Amino acid sequence: MQRENFGSRFGAIMAMAGSAIGLGNMWRFPYLVGEYGGAAFIFIYILFSFLLSLPILYCEFIIGRRSQKNAFGAFKELAPGTKWKWVGALSVIAPVIITSYYCVIGGWSVEYFFRSCTFSFTSNSDGMDLTNMFGSFISSTWAPLFGHTLFLLLTAVVVGKGIKGGIEKFGKVMMPVLFIVVILIAVRSMTLSGASEGISYLFKPDFSKIDGKVCAAALGQSFFSLSLGCGTMLTYASYVSRKENIASSGASTAVADLCFAMIAGCAIMPAVFAFGLSPQSGPGLVFETLPLIFSQMPAGGIVAILFFLALLIAAVTSSISMFEVGVAYCVEERGMSRKWACVTIFMITWVLGILCSLSFGPLSDVKLFGNTIFNFFDKLSANYLMTIGSLLVVLFVGWKMKKADVEDEFTNGGTFPANRRLFKVLWLIIRWIAPLAILVIFLSNLIGL
Ligand code: TRP
Repeated sequence: MQRENFGSRFGAIMAMAGSAIGLGNMWRFPYLVGEYGGAAFIFIYILFSFLLSLPILYCEFIIGRRSQKNAFGAFKELAPGTKWKWVGALSVIAPVIITSYYCVIGGWSVEYFFRSCTFSFTSNSDGMDLTNMFGSFISSTWAPLFGHTLFLLLTAVVVGKGIKGGIEKFGKVMMPVLFIVVILIAVRSMTLSGASEGISYLFKPDFSKIDGKVCAAALGQSFFSLSLGCGTMLTYASYVSRKENIASSGASTAVADLCFAMIAGCAIMPAVFAFGLSPQSGPGLVFETLPLIFSQMPAGGIVAILFFLALLIAAVTSSISMFEVGVAYCVEERGMSRKWACVTIFMITWVLGILCSLSFGPLSDVKLFGNTIFNFFDKLSANYLMTIGSLLVVLFVGWKMKKADVEDEFTNGGTFPANRRLFKVLWLIIRWIAPLAILVIFLSNLIGL
């Protein structure tokens, strides 16, 4: 059977940017910036994105496009009969775990989108109530499960429609809408009186704030945001045409992701400062602090609808990319039809997601290694699966694959002279700098430096 590919360059980039741009940019990035002290964190984050994450993204592209296989099949194809296939297995299991808890937060954005459409933030201007609203919502049993199920269903339906007709089409329409909406919100936020303090918080670094923790958090965020180390980009790259220049597609994806994170920062921070609130409210920043702001901002009702719509679109295009990893595996390695593969992955992630969701309420006493189920999944993936996955991917490309093959794939058989020059630097990073840097940061985080 002929394997499906992305139909156009624009479509492929929109799909990959859709994977990268998600809750990581709109929910995680802003609260980490708040927790780790603003511009200094952003500076390190940008540095790591280009120095380490982009080369790792290229590694995933090289493995995916060369093998034209799903994440498990790719390692079997490029290193037949070796233990590397276990790295492939890890690359299929990791996104299933991430999807499970990611869709819970996706479900919250479904709920908040509905709430914003009924103007429930603006009609309720009592600040205390809005903060309690989030806590009581996530700890309830049924409401979050409803949003979670809807979110996961939407993901499964788009993936079920295939690469061109589902994933690519959805990304091509939704990503431009997403950019426009977030730019509009950023303009509103930056023109509030008192916004300038928020802007300098984002752009004026205080380098004395940089320490090991900030570096580890910035690296983790950079991997998370570019969907690295979990077979996602690898699987998408396997649908990229052989003629495509992967150096430029990868750079476009990384730049779009970074720009989007900064625009999201500009949409959130200036408003937080303008209303005299704290940027350090952690994961509740988007779901607690922002509704409070929307309830007081001129035209806040409309801005709230736009914001939660954007959050929802961003989250769905990312969950689609993780979902596809498992589906591609089921279709190509297990011989299932695409429809049954979607049903299978839906059932697994739905059940695990229910456990994650309930761990904020009825199951909050169930602890795995001292964490609630949700926190365990979150820490397991952000601190271990992604970092170890990325390390193994660079080691595979740098030390297991033949240099000539890697160069051939990166330069399309030598047809792109600029890529040939870039390859010299890339090879050094892939072979030495990236593995050592990941190892140092991983270990220093592990022993708590
Ligand atoms: N990058 C996405 C975001 O920023 C999330 C994501 C999609 C992801 N696929 C992934 C994270 C794979 C880690 C691994 O929200």
